[in-house]
Amino acid sequence: MSRLRFGVCGLGFMGRSHFARLRGHSRAAIVAICDHDARRRSGDWGDELGNLDLGQAAAGRVALDDIAAYATPDELIADPNVEAVLITLPTALHAGVAIAALQAGKHVLCEKPMAMTVGDCDRMIRAAEANGRTLMVAQCIRFWPQYEAIKHCVDEGRIGSVRFVGLRRLGCPPTYSAENWLLDGRQSGGALLDLHVHDVDFAHYLLGIPESVYARGTRGPSGGIDHVTATWAYPDGSYATLEGGWVLAAPWTFDMEISVHGERGTLGWAMSRGSEVVLRTGSDDVEPIPCDGDALRREQDYFIECVVAGRPVEACTPSSSRASIALAWLERRSIETGRVVPLSDRLRRVWSGATGSGPARVIGRDAQPSA
Ligand SMILES: NC(=O)c1ccc[n+]([C@@H]2O[C@H](COP(=O)([O-])OP(=O)(O)OC[C@H]3O[C@@H](n4cnc5c(N)ncnc54)[C@H](O)[C@@H]3O)[C@@H](O)[C@H]2O)c1
Repeated sequence: MSRLRFGVCGLGFMGRSHFARLRGHSRAAIVAICDHDARRRSGDWGDELGNLDLGQAAAGRVALDDIAAYATPDELIADPNVEAVLITLPTALHAGVAIAALQAGKHVLCEKPMAMTVGDCDRMIRAAEANGRTLMVAQCIRFWPQYEAIKHCVDEGRIGSVRFVGLRRLGCPPTYSAENWLLDGRQSGGALLDLHVHDVDFAHYLLGIPESVYARGTRGPSGGIDHVTATWAYPDGSYATLEGGWVLAAPWTFDMEISVHGERGTLGWAMSRGSEVVLRTGSDDVEPIPCDGDALRREQDYFIECVVAGRPVEACTPSSSRASIALAWLERRSIETGRVVPLSDRLRRVWSGATGSGPARVIGRDAQPSA
C-alpha cells in the first residue's frame, strides 16, 4: 500500500508529537521537515515537553537521514516529494503557510487554532477549494476517545435532552514554546484562542451554534485574554459554560474536564480522574465507559483516510474550525464590551451548517435552524 508523503513544518512540541506517530505509520511517511532552528532541524530535539504529556513525543537525538531538512516552509512546500504538509508552527504563521501549500497542490493538516482571524480562515478555505486539496484543522478533542464517547452517548439519546454542559481547561502559563511565542498574545491570541478554542470547538460540535454568548475574561502574561468564563445560551433554555485559561500559579497540573447533564442522566470525565467516562442515569446506576486510543493518532488516521479516499473531512470540516475562531472572537467582544452578544438567525443558520457534527443533536432541535 502506498504511503501519504508528509512534510512537517515546525519541530516543537506538536511537531515532535505528530512526528513520533507518523514515523512508522503503515499509511504515511515523513519525507521532509522544516524548522528555522538549526539544532532542531539536525535532529537534536532535547526533552522539552508542552502543556500535556501527549506520550510518544520524539525527543533526544533523532536520526533524520532519510528525510529532507529545510530552514523555511517555502522550501519544504517546493519539494515535489511532499504530498501533504503538516503545520505545527506558531499560530500567526498558519494561514500563510497553509495557503502557500494548498496553492502548490499539497494537502494540509494544520494544528489548531485554525488562524488568528476569521478573514485568514476564509482565505485558507478558499485556497483549498480553488486547488481541490484537502484542508483539515487538527481539533484533536473531536478525536479524543473520552469526548468522542460523550458525543456518541448524547447523539444516541442516552441521557435524553441535554440541559447544560460544562467544559473546563485550566493550567499555568506555558513556558516551553520556541522563543516564548505562546506568551506573546499577538502570536498566540492568548489562552482564549490557543487553549480555550478546544472547548469552543467541542461545545458547538456537541450542541450547535448558540443564540447568544456572554463572557468575562482576564488579561494575563501573554498580554491577551488568558482566562475566560463564557456562557452560551440556546433557544430551548439549555446552555453551556466554558472556562479556560493558563493563569493558575505554577506549578499547577494541567487538567481538562467535561460534564453533560440531560433530563435522564449525566455524563462526565476529567483527565485527572482517569480514563473512564462515567454515565449516571439513576441514584445507584453508574456505568463506566472504558475509553482508549490515542487522539493524535486517530486524527492523523482520519486525515490520511480522507486524502487517500478523496473524501471530504466531515468529522472536522474547515468551516467548523472557522466557526470556532469566530465564536472565540465573539467571546472576546463580549469581554471587551461587557455585553451579551446575540447571534442572528441568519448567522446561526450559516454556522450550523458548519458544525461538522454527525447525527442531529438530541436537544433543542429549534436551536438548530434548518438550513
Ligand atoms: N492540539 C493540541 O493539543 C496542541 C497543543 C499544543 C500546541 N498546539 C498548536 O500547535 C502549534 C505549534 O505549537 P507548539 O506547542 O508545537 O509550539 P513550539 O514552540 O513548541 O514549536 C514551534 C516550532 O516552530 C518553529 N518555528 C517558528 N517559527 C518558524 C518559522 N518562521 N519557520 C520555521 N520554523 C519556525 C520553532 O522553532 C519551533 O520548533 C500551535 O498552533 C499550537 O496552538 C496544539
